[in-house]
Amino acid sequence: MLPTAAAEILRRVHAEPVEIEELVELASSDPAIAARVLSRANSAHFGGVVPVETLHDAVVRLGTVQTTATVTAQALKLILPPSSDLPVIDAGWKHSIACAKVCELTAGEFGVSPTAAYTAGLLHDVGRLALIARYPNEYSELDLIVSKDEAFDPIECERRLFEIDHCQAGDILVTDWKLPEKLRSSITDHHQDPQLGDGSLLRAVRVSCAVSSSIGYPEPSRAGVSSGDENLAQSMIEPQRRRSRIQAEIESEFQRLLHG
Ligand SMILES: [Fe+2]
Ligand SMILES: [Fe+2]
Repeated sequence: MLPTAAAEILRRVHAEPVEIEELVELASSDPAIAARVLSRANSAHFGGVVPVETLHDAVVRLGTVQTTATVTAQALKLILPPSSDLPVIDAGWKHSIACAKVCELTAGEFGVSPTAAYTAGLLHDVGRLALIARYPNEYSELDLIVSKDEAFDPIECERRLFEIDHCQAGDILVTDWKLPEKLRSSITDHHQDPQLGDGSLLRAVRVSCAVSSSIGYPEPSRAGVSSGDENLAQSMIEPQRRRSRIQAEIESEFQRLLHG
């Protein structure tokens, strides 16, 4: 149902520890990924005085974090090609990228590494991206209904329409794709009420998912954020200057990952 190439790429890029040579090999395995890694390494943001011409040099210039982000985004694009024609696709992508960026920027508040937080944020709604890819028109209608009427619970609507919600779909994908177990809870539990003992990565994703929704990149299903985390989320987007800075970083991340 979903491209096996994407599954293989995601599994390998998130294997630990990931070595530069492995990333180079992975980037060379697909022409679209190779092109994206090279173009990012030579972009205005990362480009040096001398343009890089080999994938090895491109991976070294980008570093492990940025290469992993580029490869992950590229693999996700095999699952759900970005499109501005269907608003639900554009919104799905933007929410995931916004959550990744907010996770990265706020990782220190949760005591997690920015790399791990970014990746978890980018993948937290992978089940939703997969449902949108499989049922684009039905998901558009669902989005429209739940955005107009708060009485509809988006997760419940997903279960009725697709017999599975996006967290359950994500859980299956983590297993099928053999993604690292440390990513599972942020993919499957980010809409559940907080529990004692929830890991820091899950908290970072929950709060960042909520923050992304409140600054203009919404996911209709609200993250199950505790009142303490709700206050934390509010403090992250205030004052206005901080909020504007986060939004600017998210916008340039869209450009870099989707069109750069
Ligand atoms: Fe979600
Ligand atoms: Fe989300």
